[in-house]
Amino acid sequence: MGCIARPAKGSSMYDLVIANGTVATAADVYRADVGIKDGVIVALGRGLTGAAETIDAAGRYVLPGGIDSHVHIAQPSGEGIVMADDFESGTRSALFGGNTTVLPFCIQEKGEALRTALTDYHAKAAGNCYTDVSFHLVISDPSEAVLGQELPAAVADGYTSFKIFMTYEALRLNDAEILATMDTARRTGALVMVHCENEDAIRFLVDKFTGEGHLEPRTHATTRPVVVEREATHRAISLAEVVDVPVVIVHVSNGAAMEEIARARARGRPIVGETCPQYLMLTEDDLSGMDWEGAKFVCSPPPRDKAEQTNIWRGIETGIFDLFSSDHCPFRYDDDRGKLNPKGRNDFRHIPNGIPGVETRLSILFSEGVMKGRIDLPRFVAMTATNHAKTYGLYPRKGTIAVGSDADIAIWDPDAERVIRHAELHDAADYSPYEGIAVRGRPETMILRGKVMVRDGALVGEKGYGAYLPRGLSDRAKPPTE
Ligand code: URP
Ligand code: ZN
Ligand code: ZN
Ligand code: ZN
Repeated sequence: MGCIARPAKGSSMYDLVIANGTVATAADVYRADVGIKDGVIVALGRGLTGAAETIDAAGRYVLPGGIDSHVHIAQPSGEGIVMADDFESGTRSALFGGNTTVLPFCIQEKGEALRTALTDYHAKAAGNCYTDVSFHLVISDPSEAVLGQELPAAVADGYTSFKIFMTYEALRLNDAEILATMDTARRTGALVMVHCENEDAIRFLVDKFTGEGHLEPRTHATTRPVVVEREATHRAISLAEVVDVPVVIVHVSNGAAMEEIARARARGRPIVGETCPQYLMLTEDDLSGMDWEGAKFVCSPPPRDKAEQTNIWRGIETGIFDLFSSDHCPFRYDDDRGKLNPKGRNDFRHIPNGIPGVETRLSILFSEGVMKGRIDLPRFVAMTATNHAKTYGLYPRKGTIAVGSDADIAIWDPDAERVIRHAELHDAADYSPYEGIAVRGRPETMILRGKVMVRDGALVGEKGYGAYLPRGLSDRAKPPTE
């Protein structure tokens, strides 16, 4: 192991050495020092010397920085609702949570050119990031111009993944539109992410339950039962099979939808499965909190029950899920422009969907997964970093600890014990859905491209060091070669 670079005259061999730690990748766990020069890992080995700075990581895990490939930041939300996090607070929170790269969504509004959406979204991110970022597109208006020219041009420019929705009136595509959009993905090698819930079935249930006078937050969950997610998951996978294209099924909440993925995989279909902390830690009962506090837990798909939590753990343990993402989608609770907006405080239909979680994702899986023996450290690294990089065209630059990879590193203290308190988090929401949950393990020092950004829990890096990353094609989706 190890590949020692020759120092340039008059300079240190390494800018930084992380010494004496236990390195973990998706494949291995081993003792090694990590030598870093010009933002890149240049050596792995024992006893590395000649560094301008050395961090002693004895008793610590040295992990690839987390990649959260499903976050919502500074996203336009309509109806006077404002997302709590901009790029500054969202990436700061991500960094403190153990992440060095996040992938938020650039939404195409209906009728909008993709180029316009991208330019506007870049303007929000530029100079404001504490982590590296890259954007997925959301295609809400798959016109001929979008599918024929704009999307292929965007893919060529490094926007190599996009999300489509089967729910939400403003975003949903019908089956014909889904097929046409997936076909553009097939031609270009872009990867499609699908939000699977049947909007017509939800509308039917919403009309029924609101007609009976049920307007409280829990009705959000009642009107989005497992079957509407299962059906849409089956349909998305089937439509992808018609087109012959891989898909990512995002934020899977339950065993039945998960089994659709497992069955399709068993037939040889290239399906990537993603799940999120809310489906391990929360239940539908959380939406019944007193004084409309259930609004804090309104997200789609909704959290389910204990039995479904067990099913999702099984999917994590057995490899049905490749990706563990936060789906961080923060709205303030006690705020006229958030969960308790003037309409939302009386009617669940106006409570913005989504919950914060970019800072707590890794600690929850580390504590509940690794420390409780459900998964090992390589699987943790795979599900929180490596698989995200491979799925979204960032590997091997990102997502691993290897010579030649960016020096994006999280130094974890596996023994640190704490209780999640929103007051100690770094986002701009006013609550955490995980308040009061005890976790073991903490990312204490964060390094982004060789630069120490958080040292022993204190912010030392600068806003704006985080860069935008154009991406290559997914390892899962390569265009036809003929
Ligand atoms: O409720 C959620 N998850 N809102 C975020 C948007 C999405 O569908 O991922
Ligand atoms: Zn979604
Ligand atoms: Zn009711
Ligand atoms: Zn989302």
